[in-house]
Amino acid sequence: MAKNKIRYYCQNCGAEYSQWHGQCKNCGEWNMLGEEVVTKSPSKNTYAKKQDVVNIISLETRKEARIVSPSEELNRVLGGGIVLGAVVLIGGEPGIGKSTLLLQLALKMKRKILYVSGEESASQIKMRADRLNSFQNPDCFLFTETSVEKVIHEAKKLSPDLLIIDSIQTLHSSAIESSAGSVSQIRECAGDIISYAKQTATPVILVGHITKDGHIAGPKILEHMVDVVLNFDGDRNHLFRLLRAYKNRFGSTSEIGIYEMVSQGLKEIKNPSHILITKKQEESSGNAVAVSMEGNRPMLIEIQALVSSSVYGMPQRSATGFDAKRLNMLLAVLEKRAGFPLGAKDVFLNITGGIKIEDPALDLAVMAALLSSNEDVPVSENFCFAGEIGLSGEIRAVAQVEKRILEAEKLGYEKIFVSDMNTFPKRNFSITIEKVGKIERFLDLLF
Ligand code: TYD
Ligand code: MG
Repeated sequence: MAKNKIRYYCQNCGAEYSQWHGQCKNCGEWNMLGEEVVTKSPSKNTYAKKQDVVNIISLETRKEARIVSPSEELNRVLGGGIVLGAVVLIGGEPGIGKSTLLLQLALKMKRKILYVSGEESASQIKMRADRLNSFQNPDCFLFTETSVEKVIHEAKKLSPDLLIIDSIQTLHSSAIESSAGSVSQIRECAGDIISYAKQTATPVILVGHITKDGHIAGPKILEHMVDVVLNFDGDRNHLFRLLRAYKNRFGSTSEIGIYEMVSQGLKEIKNPSHILITKKQEESSGNAVAVSMEGNRPMLIEIQALVSSSVYGMPQRSATGFDAKRLNMLLAVLEKRAGFPLGAKDVFLNITGGIKIEDPALDLAVMAALLSSNEDVPVSENFCFAGEIGLSGEIRAVAQVEKRILEAEKLGYEKIFVSDMNTFPKRNFSITIEKVGKIERFLDLLF
């Protein structure tokens, strides 16, 4: 008879201990060990086949075979389609639309798909599918099962072109006694699925739950085991959803996919700039348009700032969609280098559309929005900005400036502010390019 053992697993790195410790000896994290009852010790992951030592030059070059999905945004994020045998993990907050995204993919892709759901019943999924109203695939099979052995057995029988598992946390393996969703279960089930994917060259998409601090639940090692880690996020109160790659063995991690949640599911947004900018009837202070880049795609976004006198002794600083520390840095630069006493003011900053952007080129537009709100003078709505701001108040060059300029020109802006350190080939732009070096001069040019 199998003997039950109590084991402790680090939630961060997946290290196993027989006793509880405050700190994981493997990764050094504190308070990460969780107790689990294990019947059999988990088998080693043996998905990598035994190979001989080879010289890299002697290997023949193969291009990864990819399945091009019907979703352009997904293809972009994955680097051109789903690589055969790749395991993609997609994480995101509950209710953000992971299941919707994948069901839509399954219904639209004209290939044999096995959609495994451990979270919803078949009739629930059918109801959702009816709502999505995108039945185009005659070969979309559903399987509501949580045993990883049964899932792999059925997958081997059906041999689908793509296996979708919603979610890895609901699967359990009979090799281990602990409950579904525990570190040892996730590790074991992921190991089994990865070996299935590699042996049969079937791509697999796994949904992963995230913890309250935004990490994919389960051991960090899960993210090391899979080939691609995607994150699906967005503000729940807004309609936009961003799909980003955090890790991609087959492509870049700088591309993002943009979707809008509508009543028929997720709609792809191919021209984000059109959607993210609201053309107003009258100009108001505190708004500025930034030309940001996400991967290779330029995107115009609107920044809104509100600077007002603080009622309380402690001025408030709050930023939505923008790094709060960066906002504080910009305020300090404004105060020190341009002499604006903002220390006693409340400052609120908002990137419209509820999206999060990390492009440093946003700085200049943020600065313009702050100044505009502080002075209560609107920035012309025909201006846009792309520049990073340094600690000494200098405006620094940004990457791919030419693409940004072209996008602003295409959307009919009259003037773009960039750093005077940016170089680009001379050609006839119909947009005026204002090159600035220091923020003092920027102030003169802005209003
Ligand atoms: P869901 O895909 O169930 O999220 P996850 O799997 O990430 O938990 O997302 C469901 C949310 O999306 C739900 O709250 C309602 C919304 N939704 C729409 O707005 N329109 C639709 O057509 C569908 C299917 C869902
Ligand atoms: Mg779901």
